Amino acid sequence: MTDRYAVMGNPIDHSKSPQIHRLFAEQTGQDISYRAILAPLDGFADAVEQFRKEDGKGLNITVPFKQQAWQLADQRSERAERAGAVNTLSIKNGKLAGDNTDGVGLVRDLTENHQVSLHDKVILLLGAGGAARGVISPLFAQAPAAITIANRTVSKAIELASLFADLGAIRGCGFPDLASEHYDIIINATAAGLDGKAPPLPEGVITASTTCYDMMYSNEPTAFVRYASQCGAEKTFDGLGMLVEQAAESFFIWRGVRPETSGIIQALRK
Ligand code: ATR
Repeated sequence: MTDRYAVMGNPIDHSKSPQIHRLFAEQTGQDISYRAILAPLDGFADAVEQFRKEDGKGLNITVPFKQQAWQLADQRSERAERAGAVNTLSIKNGKLAGDNTDGVGLVRDLTENHQVSLHDKVILLLGAGGAARGVISPLFAQAPAAITIANRTVSKAIELASLFADLGAIRGCGFPDLASEHYDIIINATAAGLDGKAPPLPEGVITASTTCYDMMYSNEPTAFVRYASQCGAEKTFDGLGMLVEQAAESFFIWRGVRPETSGIIQALRK
């Protein structure tokens, strides 16, 4: 019997996950179905329960339910525990196992698809919400020299940094504090792009040699990618590869098979 999977979120119309997982299934010969489920904003747990009753095998969880999925999970992986959010649920013997593949998706896109090593690098992470929190421990696993978190609300950056202080050199600050500082890699995890804005970096922080990565993606260059290019950055990337890589890791967790991603990223780009 075909095993059932789905992505759950609200809104969910524009999710590329069904397309990505269908391409993975086709490529690897796995007999699965994958659909998008719109869960009511006040009805996430019920929607998961319904899917479990229908003998669903696994769910990807997206905005705004990742923290609720973390709470709902019967058990969690170490990286999900740290992230405070779950984007992948596996249903086995009626129990929900929670994982978070976002961070490893980002790291794989940077290191394997774009050949950007994080080892010994000075990293600036913009934003201190769920998206930022989800990637910090996988970034530290690459042994960077240090991570700075900059956020509009400074207290949130400082608080987030303190949660990960046991993993390595990390500090939180505000955007104005970045004036005259330089970083090897800047990763945008703010939601500013949703309003078509780049985060408010002081002039001069991005130079030609700064690698700039936007965790968001869109068909057109994102606001942060455009801003970074205007500043002269030679390496700018959006988050499409991260999206495909986090999906590939979920697929691997569920099916034990790792899809090849580069052709799929290229196909989606078109
Ligand atoms: P997510 O789960 O996507 O991280 P979130 O938890 O709501 O969503 O966090 C959104 C992040 O984007 C926050 O860091 C937010 O800054 P504040 O903590 O100060 O609210 C940041 N953000 C949103 N709009 C922004 C903007 N226009 N400029 C800079 N940062 C912005």
